[in-house]
Amino acid sequence: MVQLTLPRNSKVNTSGKTYTSDASGTLRTFKVYRYDPDGGENPRVDTYQIDVSDVSMVLDALIKIKNDLDPTVTFRRSCREGVCGSCAMNINGSNTLACTKGMDEVGSGDIAIYPLPHQPVVKDLVTDLTKFYEQHASIEPFLQSSVADDQEEIAQSKEDREMLDGLYECILCACCSTSCPSYWWNGDKADGDDKEYLGPAALLQAYRWIADSRDEEQQRRLDALDDPFKLYRCHTIMNCAQVCPKGLNPAKAITEIRKLMVNRPNPNAS
Ligand code: SF4
Ligand code: SF4
Ligand code: FES
Repeated sequence: MVQLTLPRNSKVNTSGKTYTSDASGTLRTFKVYRYDPDGGENPRVDTYQIDVSDVSMVLDALIKIKNDLDPTVTFRRSCREGVCGSCAMNINGSNTLACTKGMDEVGSGDIAIYPLPHQPVVKDLVTDLTKFYEQHASIEPFLQSSVADDQEEIAQSKEDREMLDGLYECILCACCSTSCPSYWWNGDKADGDDKEYLGPAALLQAYRWIADSRDEEQQRRLDALDDPFKLYRCHTIMNCAQVCPKGLNPAKAITEIRKLMVNRPNPNAS
């Protein structure tokens, strides 16, 4: 039966709890999404006011909130320098890394912090990226070469190496895929149904290996992507390139895969 109302837990109670620091200085207000799927309550948005005079990045502000006001606020972080991808979240409506988002980049009003969109929430700002990682694994993100099997070094020209620039830097933060409307609607079909759009991150990584002069499986990799759902649900909306915190352009990589698809030899030709 068609469900005509939103699921109960999709309704966010915007009048959550308010926490205010005693400190004076430069006070800023953060509106943070809070949700515990095991708790039986709807999501809410809590308000935190803290002194940010000693805070440079949004992640530092979250750590300060957790340390000084509310230890229950839950988020992921590790490297604090834009390398691990674990602090990806939605800040003021745009997916980004909290650790590289400067307080001088968030404007002067309240700062809204939500989890990455359209992913199951584990708790607060932590999303379940299992499907995202499975899609990455499905493109076989490793070098496939008969030479590599012999563990010999494989020479690569400077030009061939440069083909990987703009591809290898991806940190799998998921900012791009979770900002892509096509991925929202087509990225998570039921288990066992492979009719799903792989999304910009997995496709950028697919092209990273297709474009690698040392890899010998280009045609097989293209065959595996030749599917109306896996590849062709990209409608060049370009959200992916706009939000990538590493300045990469997954939409361009998707276009390059499509060009190779068109130009490859027809396996049915005599
Ligand atoms: S392409 Fe950019 S936004 Fe997408 S997963 Fe990689 S680093 Fe993150
Ligand atoms: S360009 Fe393609 S992959 Fe990127 S956001 Fe748009 S539809 Fe998604
Ligand atoms: S904490 Fe590693 S990318 Fe932000």
